[in-house]
Amino acid sequence: MLDKMNGLKRTVYSGELRAGDIGREVVLAGWCAKQRDLGNLVFIDLRDRSGIAQLAFDDTSAREIFKKAAAARSEDVLMAKGTVRRRQSVNRDIPTGEVEVFVTDLRVLAKSDTPPFEISDRTNAKEELRLRYRYLDLRRPELQSALFMRHRIVKLVRDYFDRHGFIEIETPVLIKSTPEGARDYLVPSRVHPGKFYALPQSPQLYKQLSMLAGFDRYLQIARCFRDEDLRADRQPEFTQIDLEMSFVDEEDVQAVNEGLMKEIFREILGKDLALPLRRITWKEAMERYGSDKPDTRFGLELTDLSDQLKDTAFAVFRGALDAGGSVRAINVKGAAAALSRKEIDKLTDVAKLYKAKGLAFTRLAEGGTSSSFEKFLTEEEIHAVHERLGAEPGDVLLVAADAKDAVVFAALGAIRLALAKKLDLIPKDSFDLLWVTDFPLLEWDEDVGRFFAMHHPFTSPNLDDFAMIDTDPGSVRARAYDLVLNGTELGGGSIRISDPELQEKMFEALGFTPEQAKERFGFLLDAFRYGVPPHGGMAYGLDRLVMLLLEKDSIRDVMAFPKVQNASELMTGCPAEVEQKSLDELSIAVTAKEE
Ligand code: AMO
Ligand code: AMP
Repeated sequence: MLDKMNGLKRTVYSGELRAGDIGREVVLAGWCAKQRDLGNLVFIDLRDRSGIAQLAFDDTSAREIFKKAAAARSEDVLMAKGTVRRRQSVNRDIPTGEVEVFVTDLRVLAKSDTPPFEISDRTNAKEELRLRYRYLDLRRPELQSALFMRHRIVKLVRDYFDRHGFIEIETPVLIKSTPEGARDYLVPSRVHPGKFYALPQSPQLYKQLSMLAGFDRYLQIARCFRDEDLRADRQPEFTQIDLEMSFVDEEDVQAVNEGLMKEIFREILGKDLALPLRRITWKEAMERYGSDKPDTRFGLELTDLSDQLKDTAFAVFRGALDAGGSVRAINVKGAAAALSRKEIDKLTDVAKLYKAKGLAFTRLAEGGTSSSFEKFLTEEEIHAVHERLGAEPGDVLLVAADAKDAVVFAALGAIRLALAKKLDLIPKDSFDLLWVTDFPLLEWDEDVGRFFAMHHPFTSPNLDDFAMIDTDPGSVRARAYDLVLNGTELGGGSIRISDPELQEKMFEALGFTPEQAKERFGFLLDAFRYGVPPHGGMAYGLDRLVMLLLEKDSIRDVMAFPKVQNASELMTGCPAEVEQKSLDELSIAVTAKEE
């Protein structure tokens, strides 16, 4: 076989050519993005990672070169030598649009089959097809630039933390299960039949042990694995910017991270981020926005009507209040015209997705007020509710009641977001970054019937509250904080428990017997006996960070080879069955198979 490059070396990227290069001899290499054959003229758009350059051929070209150009097809790999010259007709849409390369040597390095979809940012190919041919999809400028941007962000993060004294430590990927709330991916051991490693949901325990080991400041760009239901902002494997610091409190961790955010906003978005960032407690976030990751770029805040309705006879509200729940509402100002009955019905369906039993409404429309619940209230109650909500003609009041506050928050929180979308309330190109603090330490799981750590079992309780751990565990606050960007949880962390007795007590509150705690976390409790510094940290979802900064809808758009909803990877076709021999070596018997 001939070496098709045969000594020819690229001298410049296609996208870099400018008018200043006119007269230069250059060698370009890339893919044929488009070929136009006008009979006695042929133009080829040559694409590489930097952009596109136009190659030109005409009747003065050597016959053999002209023939090759005329035969070039989309996605053929070409190398072209030639002279940069001014174009006949300037293309203002691309940076290289003033020039073209008149080609004197053309090498066809590889031919391409007709691609299954057009490789262009205007493609309307289905995502499934694009993911099956991800290597082609990745040739699109949009994905190329997303991954270049991701690279820049990672580099900035590493440099930033390096300057602040953090060192990168690689922690293992085959580990003992660290529970973080999701299911583990398990890896069977061949040498220890019947035993399994887990892939890390995060490097949590190793980074804490690195603090014990005296490294003081740890960083890792860490791959994490969680077997959970996928959504637009969730993948089974994803990357964290993971950090931990010794001898610090919340403010120290937050300050370092605010500095990082300021730098990222400046370098990546060219925006000046005002510090310190806003802090809002979890309780306030829930009460005002119905969410622990509030999008505060628009209003539609929640209002508690429990006081105004404390004596109500309306069964729905009465029942909720008597059971210790609440009645809350959103006043959608001036939305009577936009929100027809049908639209309100749709919002009711949203509420029901979040386990609300219904959504009561009052529509103060021009043609008259209609309400699903006011007929059940007294005049005074109606007046009090309207006054509390600042109701005016044209407004729509949406009310949810439930025996559980959490249901009311979830339902109205979701309605708030649906309304913002529907009414187009979110300003474009706006970034809303804030801390949510004082999360509850524990969260009751109805199905399992016990408390779980809301963050993870190593998060320190707020010591002022800890006395309540036996009497009212649900109201103990944690020293935990999340960083929220545009309504998405970007990162989260906490000050950790650094007292072995407190850690044991925490395991007890989570329902572990001393034996279970020892079995699962014995190494940590042991380690804590040898001098543990106070420490804390946090982790960001890198994919989410890049997604939000680039204003993409999904983290798949900023990952090179993502998985789809059912956690499979379409290009290579995994997960896949393995040979019986491999299963036998691992002492594994498969009891069920996918159809
Ligand atoms: P947490 O579980 O909150 O904390 O995770 C930190 C951040 O990781 C991102 N993230 C994800 N991104 C994509 N796909 C997923 N499936 C996914 N799950 C989480 C989120 C989230 O905010 N060890 C602790 C951190 C600490 O306490 O220091 C932890 O993992 O952006
Ligand atoms: P009903 O008495 O069942 O006809 O309910 C009267 C109104 O209250 C209807 O608009 C219902 O959608 C609404 N509703 C029912 N349950 C709830 C609830 N949990 N919260 C708010 N409104 C509700």
